[in-house]
Amino acid sequence: MTSDHKDAATLERIKTSAKADLYRELADAIGGITEGEPDAIANMANAAALIWEYLPDINWAGFYRVVGDELVLGPFQGRSACIRIAFGKGVCGAAAATRATQLVKDVHAFEGHIACDAASASEIVVPIIVGERLVGVLDIDSPTVARFDEDDRAGCEALVARLAGRVG
Ligand code: SME
Repeated sequence: MTSDHKDAATLERIKTSAKADLYRELADAIGGITEGEPDAIANMANAAALIWEYLPDINWAGFYRVVGDELVLGPFQGRSACIRIAFGKGVCGAAAATRATQLVKDVHAFEGHIACDAASASEIVVPIIVGERLVGVLDIDSPTVARFDEDDRAGCEALVARLAGRVG
């Protein structure tokens, strides 16, 4: 056994703490660039750009805003995407309707998934709630099945908590 041999549980702990560090750095970067800026669209645009820059293995990162009784495409990075999503439709609509994070390991197994980019294989969508008001969702897609886990859920929910008052 070499000195750098590590068992699976140790490797998992290292991965978890590295991911937590990455999300902390990302949250700080987003917190810094949006601080004092009241324009929601500008803040979403910079947040999408930073998520795109920091997170590995993703092919779409951005926002849908609540406009009237549906979701409308907001600032994002990645390929062009569908513009309007009804509450309850697809992964984003499910996050909006339930106000709960959707962690989808295989989008092809998610009934009603809306395929904007055929390359997407897994997805995480976090609702953005300000007070009692749903203002939109953060959506991140990956070309890798099961790219997002519980550590990503914690990281993305922390990002959204940091951003919420600045994007809605
Ligand atoms: N796949 C999403 C639609 C948005 S795109 O991924 C950018 C969904 O099912 O809601």
